[in-house]
Amino acid sequence: MLSSLRIASRRAVAARNVSALRAASTWANVPQGPPDAILGITEAFKADTFPGKINLGVGAYRDDKGKPYVLPSVLKAEDKVIQSRLNKEYAGITGVPEFTKAAAVLAYGADSSALNRLAITQSISGTGALRIGGEFIKKFYPGAKAIYIPEPSWANHAAVFKDSGLTVHKYAYYNKATIGLDFEGLLADVNKAEPGSVFLFHACAHNPTGIDPTPEQWKQIEQAVKNKGHYSFFDMAYQGFASGDIHTDAFAVRHFVEQGHNICLAQSFAKNMGLYGERIGAFSVVCADAAEQKRVDSQIKIIVRPLYSNPPIHGARIAAQILNTPELYEEWLKEVKEMADRIITMRALLKENLEKLGSKHDWSHITSQIGMFAYTGLTPEQMAGLAEEHVYATKDGRISVAGITSENVGRLAEAIFKVKG
Ligand SMILES: Cc1ncc(COP(=O)(O)O)c(C=O)c1O
Repeated sequence: MLSSLRIASRRAVAARNVSALRAASTWANVPQGPPDAILGITEAFKADTFPGKINLGVGAYRDDKGKPYVLPSVLKAEDKVIQSRLNKEYAGITGVPEFTKAAAVLAYGADSSALNRLAITQSISGTGALRIGGEFIKKFYPGAKAIYIPEPSWANHAAVFKDSGLTVHKYAYYNKATIGLDFEGLLADVNKAEPGSVFLFHACAHNPTGIDPTPEQWKQIEQAVKNKGHYSFFDMAYQGFASGDIHTDAFAVRHFVEQGHNICLAQSFAKNMGLYGERIGAFSVVCADAAEQKRVDSQIKIIVRPLYSNPPIHGARIAAQILNTPELYEEWLKEVKEMADRIITMRALLKENLEKLGSKHDWSHITSQIGMFAYTGLTPEQMAGLAEEHVYATKDGRISVAGITSENVGRLAEAIFKVKG
């Protein structure tokens, strides 16, 4: 029997512990995460009061006035969707079928052998597609649970695949000396990797470098991948946005499939339809036959269900309207080309302005690179110098060409000339 004195003292200790617990928050031990590079740029840009400041950190298209751009075809498709007064029931786990069917045709081509053996799901844009793919590989890939990504790659790739439970390896991609593709290094790494490794390829408009292999180089990469029995995972976040032509930009994806690779693919409609915040994408796996497709499809559903149950419907309906309505589709193709052309023009203007200023530096990489981003080859110190000139971009030397306009290109060239010569 405990004496009443001991009980009272135990109660007092317990009460002290409870109030100590109340004083220290449950999350007191959560450490501060490292600062986000893009957020840092946005904040520095906002704080700068200089009227001619330039933000080249954003990963979204801007029109020639530097404003966000909603595609007219998207507005028309959205009007149609709203006017149809559809209900707001849940989509199935793999999304809106009219959307996924059309997305597959867009990526693989209308006459692709992949279409009738393709397991496809709508996804939370390109990032979500990569995450489902990472999970699928971790669960079912018969080889090592690892993936090779290019060095450098989109900053989120490594995080997405690590969180999927994969080990992330790097393969050579960028040649600092030429500010171009390290093709020999890439092939050497493909050849060096354990047979049956998984390789992630940017289908077009490589982010962050803007450097893509040529069709001839893709053919050699395909051969090397086949010889080593590797598996290819394509990330196509910019179809149409790179060259202005959806077929040209899908070359690598379609070539690998034609050569017998049962690839998997992450698609995004953020850039080519400007549907950034609608989060519209797709993840697909080319299967051996219809029976395999059925099994893979069932497992994709098992992955998606506990992640987010089913995807949002609004953006998928807009994209489906565009892809399935011939007039809207034609209009969209033109708008994609206009966006790509504006970017190509800004590249040429930047190079021209630098040359006019008397820069002796070779700027040909600015125009040979493709897509939203350009790797300038500027050092972190030179990028800090640019910030002093009120030009903001990531310190790896990447600039978003979408942020350049006819009005600011002259000042941008002057700022680059000042820090680089
Ligand atoms: C190479 C690459 N993959 C995937 C994405 C995913 O974008 P989102 O999730 O917005 O579709 C991006 C976005 O910048 C990208 O650059």
